[in-house]
Amino acid sequence: MVYMQPAKPYSYHGVAEDVVRLRSLLAVGLRAADWKPPHHPTCLNLACGRADETGVLFEVLVGTTAPIFMLGLDLRGAEIDEARERWGCTCAPGQELEFRSGDAAQIDKMQSLPPFDFIFIRHQNFWSTVGDWKLLYTHALAALKETGVLVITSYFDKEHELACAYLQTIGAERLADLQHPHSRPLKDAPGKSVDRRLAVFRQSGALPEGSQLAASPTL
Ligand SMILES: C[S@@+](CC[C@H](N)C(=O)[O-])C[C@H]1O[C@@H](n2cnc3c(N)ncnc32)[C@H](O)[C@@H]1O
Repeated sequence: MVYMQPAKPYSYHGVAEDVVRLRSLLAVGLRAADWKPPHHPTCLNLACGRADETGVLFEVLVGTTAPIFMLGLDLRGAEIDEARERWGCTCAPGQELEFRSGDAAQIDKMQSLPPFDFIFIRHQNFWSTVGDWKLLYTHALAALKETGVLVITSYFDKEHELACAYLQTIGAERLADLQHPHSRPLKDAPGKSVDRRLAVFRQSGALPEGSQLAASPTL
């Protein structure tokens, strides 16, 4: 069970179980990357859609009541409205959660944004509109604090590998790359499954002492 419960049930069958699996994957990924959130982290959930994973992100990053700032951003206004309805009133005092509709490829022009400790892109879509996603990744990387991490998940291997390769060409350093052994296959899309892959990046620099690329996580 996820601690932070949505105020409104998920729209689709299976999502509650998916986010529980994502919680394990994310926790293992951050451990493999040897990254821990600071006190009062600033977090950006980019291209978040309905942001079904919001409770899981809070839980993995700050537990139950510790302070956090989280912004969810997506092009699609209807999904953002739904995210707001589901999660808008579920935070503890001191926790800030905001959802905005907007273009994630333009975050460099959003002047009120702080630098981020953690940027998450779940089910990134590099395959579909490569040009937009290149811009989106470039600005996401630039929006990170020096000590921050960018975490992506993907539905399928090829798209994941293309995104990882691109991120590395723009100076991101991959700290962990995991395959989820129990991700839920999408019935209508062979080869695709929910949070099938997860990778953790930071801006280029030396790996934290003692860390290494995770090859075979235990979930
Ligand atoms: C595959 S969906 C994933 C949605 C959500 N993260 C999830 O896992 O359910 C990709 C999302 O990217 C969003 N998106 C694509 N390009 C975007 C952009 N430039 N700015 C903001 N959102 C964008 C779409 O609206 C869509 O919600």
